[in-house]
Amino acid sequence: MKTHTQGGGTTRRGMTRIPMAQPSWDAEMREAAVQTLDSLNWVKGPEGRAFGREFAAYCGAVQGTPCQSGSVALWGALRLLGIGPGDEVLVPSLTYIATATCVSLVGATPVFVDVEPAYWCVDMDSLEAARTPKTKAVIAVHLFGQMSNDALVKWCKQHGIAYIEDAAQAHGAVSVSGIKAGGVGDVACFSFFPSKNLAVGGEGGMMMTRREDLAARMDALVNHGRDTRLESHELGSNLRMSEVSAAIGRIQLQRLEGWLERRREIATRYHQAFAHLSEVRVPEVRPGTEHAWHQYCLLAQRPDDLRQALDAAEIDSRVYYATPCHRQEVYADHPQHQQEFPVTDSIAQRLVAIPIFHQMTDEQVERVIQAVISAPHHGE
Ligand SMILES: Cc1ncc(COP(=O)(O)O)c(C=O)c1O
Repeated sequence: MKTHTQGGGTTRRGMTRIPMAQPSWDAEMREAAVQTLDSLNWVKGPEGRAFGREFAAYCGAVQGTPCQSGSVALWGALRLLGIGPGDEVLVPSLTYIATATCVSLVGATPVFVDVEPAYWCVDMDSLEAARTPKTKAVIAVHLFGQMSNDALVKWCKQHGIAYIEDAAQAHGAVSVSGIKAGGVGDVACFSFFPSKNLAVGGEGGMMMTRREDLAARMDALVNHGRDTRLESHELGSNLRMSEVSAAIGRIQLQRLEGWLERRREIATRYHQAFAHLSEVRVPEVRPGTEHAWHQYCLLAQRPDDLRQALDAAEIDSRVYYATPCHRQEVYADHPQHQQEFPVTDSIAQRLVAIPIFHQMTDEQVERVIQAVISAPHHGE
């Protein structure tokens, strides 16, 4: 089965294939990119600084530091918080592998926990059970655009544990307290990979903080921990985002709210169409929050049947996350490699993501709906 992240021009039986996602590109973004190149100001310039400032303001944070990817942002967040060998960091196992590997890359130990049965974000009871005196941070993933439990903020404060938001999939999601993803934790990490809600014309990411005491170091970290006199004060690297990417990201940020509105409209339409089906469960939204709908995942009884039906109708789909992090080969020696997580284990093979992106036409949305409803057993 094909799983495109771009394009959508593939045809079979005369139909245009509907991809999972489609990057946004328009004349204004092209103009911003060309002007930045023409300026010869390719690195360490005003676009990166403005993008960091503007995205932080959007999220209600103190500072944003653009960098090269979401993975690097996670690594940077851990360095910023002084996490390293001997420390434990709690992470959900149901996530993209980068949420866990960043912990291993700084020499600390990822401790895997289960997720909530309703919302698929990190589970509070599971966190409490895994907490030890070595626990220095939790990385809460706002999975598929769903905000993590707000109770985490208090829990982290109470136990002196840092709260890192993995907001790679959650640009524009809003918490119960009315705070946007990125403004909730001590440090937040975004990815601008082309399929994400906001992209930069290549790889990209951002570290964000609402803590004044971390802000200056955050900027230095992506620049070898250096000051302006070439003096290095702490271990960092060259993780800077290019000016061209930042210029594109700034235009995309202006469009983000409108794009989210369209994603929410599509999700509502899917809910209405699928809520009564017995073969799938529609994704639940945590009450009082606004979902960013990076992915719309159905919990399917027969994921293979559903995906085959979608494929036959020229529609892409994807399973998240068939192999949870703790079961991946990279963690073959991890003490939790064989551990069972009741929720994660029961849903990991059954979360089927169907296309959702702001450029989707009403006709494409209806095609997806018809394909799901007409999949074997689904319309019954
Ligand atoms: C939850 C999560 N965390 C981290 C990342 C890593 O981001 P990047 O691919 O930009 O390194 C991603 C991106 O796919 C993600 O979905």
